[in-house]
Amino acid sequence: MILEAKNLDYYYQDGESRRYILRDTNASFEKGKFYTILGQSGSGKTSFLALLSALDSPQGGSVVYDGKDIKQIGYENYRRNHIGIIFQSYNLIPSLTAVENVLVPMSITENDIPEDKKEVAYNLLDYIGIVKSKADRYVNKLSGGEQQRVAIARALATNVELILADEPTGNLDEEMEQEIIDIFKKLAHEHQKCVIVVTHSNEIAQQSDQIFTLKKGVLSTNE
Ligand SMILES: Nc1ncnc2c1ncn2[C@@H]1O[C@H](COP(=O)(O)OP(=O)(O)OP(=O)(O)O)[C@@H](O)[C@H]1O
Ligand SMILES: [Mg+2]
Repeated sequence: MILEAKNLDYYYQDGESRRYILRDTNASFEKGKFYTILGQSGSGKTSFLALLSALDSPQGGSVVYDGKDIKQIGYENYRRNHIGIIFQSYNLIPSLTAVENVLVPMSITENDIPEDKKEVAYNLLDYIGIVKSKADRYVNKLSGGEQQRVAIARALATNVELILADEPTGNLDEEMEQEIIDIFKKLAHEHQKCVIVVTHSNEIAQQSDQIFTLKKGVLSTNE
């Protein structure tokens, strides 16, 4: 298992009472698989992903990466060196070109990155479907689908094995959505990444290797 959620509790304090988003939640994820987390709006998908990404911390339980509690690894260290995160609204830096955006995480990771970072970034972008002429463009001069490809390349730039995405196709049309999902499948099945995608789309979920469904604080799975 590359990633495990162990007995996670996550709640908001509402006066005297606690509003549980996740209660005693367990899940495990392995490399080479494409997972989806499905649930209605407000069911806690983003909250769960935020815990798995060390963007927030649970009140109880732990997130375990490669056998180690991420608290022990250190949240920042974990984010910088072990995971790639993709958001619905891309979260790229608009004052930079596509290739420059991909270079950002490479300049702050402690992971081994080949000497010629820029070459690696161009190659990654090309692999994801962004040719060099587009790679040299400011990202706000790219379409939504293209921007999300840049965000995927950025997530992969530090050579991580774990990719987490929160509604990555939420802003895209159906055709672009399918192309992005195909990239995730390929990353899992051909490149042995562990890919975890939050979605409210049943069609996307049906294409994954395992579906986790979140409902009223309870996570269940089809396996
Ligand atoms: N700071 C906060 N204080 C109180 N409640 C919050 C806070 N942030 C989020 N919540 C609540 O936690 C619940 C889960 O939110 P979350 O964003 O994880 O849901 P989601 O499944 O990602 O929804 P969506 O599909 O709309 O993105 C929601 O009911 C939300 O209102
Ligand atoms: Mg959400």
